Amino acid sequence: MYDTNRMENAVGQDDIKISARKVQVFYGDKHAIKDVDVDILDKTVTAFIGPSGCGKSTFLRCINRMNDTIPIARIQGEIRLDGEDIYDKRVDPVQLRARVGMVFQKPNPFPKSIYDNVAYGPRIHGLSRNRAELDEIVERSLRGAALWNEVKDRLQEPGTGLSGGQQQRLCIARAVATSPEVLLMDEPCSALDPIATGQVEELIEQLRQEFSVVIVTHSMQQAARVSQKTAFFHLGNLVEYGDTDDIFTKPQDSRTEAYISGRIG
Ligand SMILES: Nc1ncnc2c1ncn2[C@@H]1O[C@H](COP(=O)(O)OP(=O)(O)OP(=O)(O)O)[C@@H](O)[C@H]1O
Ligand SMILES: [Mg+2]
Repeated sequence: MYDTNRMENAVGQDDIKISARKVQVFYGDKHAIKDVDVDILDKTVTAFIGPSGCGKSTFLRCINRMNDTIPIARIQGEIRLDGEDIYDKRVDPVQLRARVGMVFQKPNPFPKSIYDNVAYGPRIHGLSRNRAELDEIVERSLRGAALWNEVKDRLQEPGTGLSGGQQQRLCIARAVATSPEVLLMDEPCSALDPIATGQVEELIEQLRQEFSVVIVTHSMQQAARVSQKTAFFHLGNLVEYGDTDDIFTKPQDSRTEAYISGRIG
């Protein structure tokens, strides 16, 4: 039998990839994230769930400082990556975003070729020594995103010429090409058919072997399939966080219970 202290010790500091404390986000007067504390574990898939407008995307964007690009957004509190404050003045957001990659809900390929979309990050961060190594990264990333077979004969064509679902997989390939330590995915499958969704879910399972993955999803089935931890957000609050199995089978808070049983949201 384990007592609670021993259970807590079993998950040591080393396993915490990201720790957020008292995080607040304001858009002008709108208080979008309220006092969020959470530890996101390494080698784990964490699902963020909750009704539309509850702040999932906002909180996700705090983790790689994408909110910096929204002029009216203001952030307070602390977020640490491997113990390091990501809002410290010495942290370069571009470097941070290579370590903490992101896939958005709407596919946003660059107006470049398929090849150059994937090669972009490795090029600016100097991850390959020559063309052959770059080719290898591009192929591996496209295979990982379950897109290689569809594009291997048209790598020089524009990424924007792909279908919506293909564009999304291209964006996933672009995000994994820099071998991020954390991958943030904001409803990555909302533009995908069931087959591509299954492929992306397989990719997420692979990524978890090495990285920490955070996925926002409106599908409880998806959250249950892919994640080990789940965080439920409601009106800017993180209401409940725990093992995915527990959140879905024995939620502690009545708001979580109402959401997972389809009564709110
Ligand atoms: N750029 C912005 N400017 C002003 N308000 C914003 C901005 N982005 C989000 N908000 C507001 O912040 C709140 C949280 O929005 P957010 O997009 O984080 O929710 P969400 O949980 O991701 O919703 P959804 O499930 O619909 O994607 C909402 O009230 C939203 O209107
Ligand atoms: Mg959102």
